[in-house]
Amino acid sequence: MNQPKPAPHKLPDDHVQLLEQIDAVVAKYEAKPSNLIMILHAAQGIYGYLPYVVQKFIADKMHLSVSEVSGVVTFYSFFSTKPKGKHTILVCMGTACYVRGGKKLLDGIQKHLHVDVDETTEDGKFTLNKARCIGACGLAPAMMIDDTVYKAVNPNKLESILSKY
Ligand code: FES
Repeated sequence: MNQPKPAPHKLPDDHVQLLEQIDAVVAKYEAKPSNLIMILHAAQGIYGYLPYVVQKFIADKMHLSVSEVSGVVTFYSFFSTKPKGKHTILVCMGTACYVRGGKKLLDGIQKHLHVDVDETTEDGKFTLNKARCIGACGLAPAMMIDDTVYKAVNPNKLESILSKY
């Protein structure tokens, strides 16, 4: 199995304090391997994501290999190894949205923000993700930014929508 590699992300200023909080979580769960998923969940809640340094920290505390921890992190899609942007854009690629221009919308956002799907803009402002359906099929194509749903969006409206953030 390949060893996970450290990513070149800048560590948050409160990195040490965050690790102390994660340490307390590991202790609370008695570092039992059967509690690894719960510990990772809590760690992601504290740190925001699970970069290599956090995975290694948890692995050391739990006397596991980094590969064992990273295997769990990469298996479950709700764990993220990359920092999230301040705002999350979710573009619907469900059938209704797809046939009514969802792909054009996604392309427009990628071009406008210079970002790929599942990536974060360089300024850390937006993370771009795709969704299957966000429950606004009647007014497709739809997208969400954080908790706000935008319906019947066409690429020409993008600039004014994104400029609100
Ligand atoms: S398919 Fe896009 S909102 Fe349902």
